[in-house]
Amino acid sequence: MATRRVRYPIAVVGAGALGRLFAAGLARVGPVVLVARDAQRAAALAQGYTWVTLEGARRVRPPVAHPGALPEADWVVLVVKGPDTAAAARLAGRMRPKGVLSLQNGLVEATLRRALPGLHAAQGVTTEGAYREGERVVWAGRGETLVPPGFEPIAQALAQAGFRARVEPSIHEARLKKLLVNLVINPLTALARVENGRVAEPPLDALARRLIAEALPVLRGEGLELTPREAEALVFGVARDTARNRSSMLQDVLAGRPTELETLTGAFVALAERRGLEVPTHRAVYALLQAWEQARGLGDDA
Ligand SMILES: NC(=O)c1ccc[n+]([C@@H]2O[C@H](COP(=O)([O-])OP(=O)(O)OC[C@H]3O[C@@H](n4cnc5c(N)ncnc54)[C@H](OP(=O)(O)O)[C@@H]3O)[C@@H](O)[C@H]2O)c1
Repeated sequence: MATRRVRYPIAVVGAGALGRLFAAGLARVGPVVLVARDAQRAAALAQGYTWVTLEGARRVRPPVAHPGALPEADWVVLVVKGPDTAAAARLAGRMRPKGVLSLQNGLVEATLRRALPGLHAAQGVTTEGAYREGERVVWAGRGETLVPPGFEPIAQALAQAGFRARVEPSIHEARLKKLLVNLVINPLTALARVENGRVAEPPLDALARRLIAEALPVLRGEGLELTPREAEALVFGVARDTARNRSSMLQDVLAGRPTELETLTGAFVALAERRGLEVPTHRAVYALLQAWEQARGLGDDA
């Protein structure tokens, strides 16, 4: 007789910076399971980890699982990096969930749909800021998490756990705004090896304006109603508000890790192509970063 698997209300797939942050908070208010990439990583995490907030550090020990010992879950929050999306989504599907919510950056919905046919899967937006320092996770900046309609239980659980989270009816627009910001700040900071604030200053601001101008017609075709002035205010506002931060793409480049280039600029360039629109500056930064990844054996072609 088959043994019945444990079923959790929420599972978090991807035990990195965001995954550890959300799991630590959610574990304070209800059952949650954190799913690691493999048994070895799960065993290390099962010892617990340190969650550093502005109020101080605390030790947390949410239940941990891995692909070889997978519980079921009503809802899955997916927080892996772009290149790992398909594999992690398939793993999420094995948990027999009602829905899978990605809080990743970039454009991943098409990958989710391919990996999870027939399942309720969508992408939200989070501006939480977290990074890892060894086994510790540091909650570096309090942000907001917007989830699509249909994922109310996840928004409620996150809000109960103390995160700013809500259902956003215009989630598509929120996603496109975040995409615009990431399309400009991530590649420029990664290529120039500078913190976010430098994108709003000469000489990078001119290149940023060019990327914004090329992106707008494509994003407008997807439904984003922003004037060039509003788009620049958005991107430069985020760059200034996070002036001392290192973007995730810069951190990946500095650490010699694969970046989220394909789900970000790569997916955007493909979108522009489908719409018959020219985005030469995006193509240029794409080629430069692709070349960097390939030279290090990190890219898709490696
Ligand atoms: N960190 C932030 O502040 C922040 C803010 C907003 C949005 N985001 C977005 O959120 C996503 C996650 O970012 P992050 O900073 O949390 O990344 P991260 O620290 O690299 O964490 C990703 C985690 O996913 C794990 N993973 C990869 N493939 C997996 C699989 N098949 N099954 C289970 N786990 C798997 C990785 O395992 P290994 O450790 O073994 O590689 C890693 O622990 C990205 O799209 C990022 O752009 C991040």
